[in-house]
Amino acid sequence: MARRVPLSDPTAVIRTIKEDGGVILTEFSNTSDVERVNHDAAPFINALVEDRASRSLPRETTRCTRLFGRSETAREVWLQQPALLEILNHFLRTVSVPYNDDGAFELGTDAILSAAATLDIGPGVKAQDLHRDDFIWQQTHVNRAEEYTLGSDVCMGLLVPGVDTTAENGATLFLPGSHLWDHSRRPKVEEAVSAEMSVGEAFMFLGSTVHAGGANRTPQPRPMHGFFYCRSYLRPEENQHMWWTREEVRKWSPAAQKQAGYVLDNPFLGHCNETNPVDIFRSNDASIE
Ligand SMILES: [Fe+2]
Repeated sequence: MARRVPLSDPTAVIRTIKEDGGVILTEFSNTSDVERVNHDAAPFINALVEDRASRSLPRETTRCTRLFGRSETAREVWLQQPALLEILNHFLRTVSVPYNDDGAFELGTDAILSAAATLDIGPGVKAQDLHRDDFIWQQTHVNRAEEYTLGSDVCMGLLVPGVDTTAENGATLFLPGSHLWDHSRRPKVEEAVSAEMSVGEAFMFLGSTVHAGGANRTPQPRPMHGFFYCRSYLRPEENQHMWWTREEVRKWSPAAQKQAGYVLDNPFLGHCNETNPVDIFRSNDASIE
């Protein structure tokens, strides 16, 4: 079973994730904020659904990508909660001392956004294959210790349901403890539990945890808002910087700009003309005026 811990207790959340690989966060959001994010994604979902219907194509899974920019509530409220960031960076903050000399300094970088999207799972959509999200970065896990090794994960996921999720409508299938499994162990569907959630809860899990989206056997679509983070030195899954406009990014809080990679913890990685990408926006603006 997926255990439940309130977001307000990050120490217990971290302990549970280390033991199980994932946890249901209670008190993640109030209902009206969930409705707001549903509302933010709906026009993009509906346009795709209507387009498919007009071409006699099935509804299937419909995605609202770029959700970080499209939903102010998700970006500025959900994803800036101090307890959430504490948990996220407990697992994904990278700290190193790159030089071995008298002027040695510590380089510490927080997790960055990898992808954000609403997945609207249509009626009849089958379950995903069991997988680990860190396959994107070609991670495999060998010689695993019995206990969790902090620093061994490169990414994490956060799933926030737009409606109550059940085994019937395809709640996320989760294999507790699978973050400790060796790559040679083949996961089985029978080992999965359904991370059933009520609106206001969220499921947070490690990139090494085996999971899958469940099958939707109901006549209603099931929207799930997904937010994915990776270590600062990895290429994010979604090539977001190609999409967002300067005008969009300027509306974001400095914390959100940093999370999305426009303000750098590591000044040597991802700079623009030896400055933060967000500063390039500002200087370009000044040159126009
Ligand atoms: Fe996944």
